[in-house]
Amino acid sequence: MSQRVRKAVFPVGGLGTRFLPATKAMPKEMLPVVDKPLIQYAVDEAREAGIEEMIFVTGRGKTAIENHFDRDIELEQVLKSRGKTAELDDLQALMLDAGNVIYTRQQEAIGLGHAVWCARHWIGDEPFAVLLADDLVQAKTGCLKQMIDRYNETGGHLVAVENVPREHTNRYGVLDVVETKGNLVKARDLVEKPDPAVAPSTMSIIGRYILDPSVIKELDRHDVGAGGEIQLTDAMARTLDRVDFHGLQFDGTRFDCGSKRGFLEATISFALERPDLSDAMQDIVNRYAK
Ligand code: G1P
Repeated sequence: MSQRVRKAVFPVGGLGTRFLPATKAMPKEMLPVVDKPLIQYAVDEAREAGIEEMIFVTGRGKTAIENHFDRDIELEQVLKSRGKTAELDDLQALMLDAGNVIYTRQQEAIGLGHAVWCARHWIGDEPFAVLLADDLVQAKTGCLKQMIDRYNETGGHLVAVENVPREHTNRYGVLDVVETKGNLVKARDLVEKPDPAVAPSTMSIIGRYILDPSVIKELDRHDVGAGGEIQLTDAMARTLDRVDFHGLQFDGTRFDCGSKRGFLEATISFALERPDLSDAMQDIVNRYAK
């Protein structure tokens, strides 16, 4: 039986250059899909999966994220006096457990591996999850919950994966797959953003990880990889002689909300699923269809 996963790291220090000018003064993780910011989808997914401690690795200009998960007494009073109880309940549900949330800063955005390393003292020596809010997953059962349900079987490192078009492998961490059993794949190596011509497969990591804490020691080295950044993929790869590595082909649809196309698609898809908006969105889609 694997150790329980209680902690999740949310790297939110990235600059969001692909969404400028929207993200000049606002964290990219606060971009709303319908009416919920991306970071809240990720936090809700972690809660659903039973995560108790949330560790945010933030950076300059990201305080809106902290405020989002904190109380706003004035707003609460206004909603109360206007009898807006549903909105009030929504706000209350946002709150993170006092003492179970940590904000630490990554002073420079020098890679996902470095962001995770910045959380090392709070992670300690237990398995932990990492969620990238840019990757939004629409699923009946949250992607991280699906992973935690399988983690007892796999232990080690378990990441969410999907097949991508070969010409896109240079955007992802890619697995060298040795075995496929149903929706679980086993890998013997990983490469960060390989050129399509040399990618070992098209099975690619999307932003959900359950990691063995041994990865932290590898991150201590601060080795620089693809794109001149300290890569989590490289650190995981260096543990593979000791730690099993599996990818779960999760049930659901993943939207790359770091890209404009993915973000627009997510907005349409999530609105279509909302009972209060689906008719309106269907109408809009029909109207603009060629
Ligand atoms: C990061 C990881 C990459 C992973 C991707 C998923 O890349 O480094 O391995 O496949 O997230 O979205 P980034 O998108 O930050 O360049």
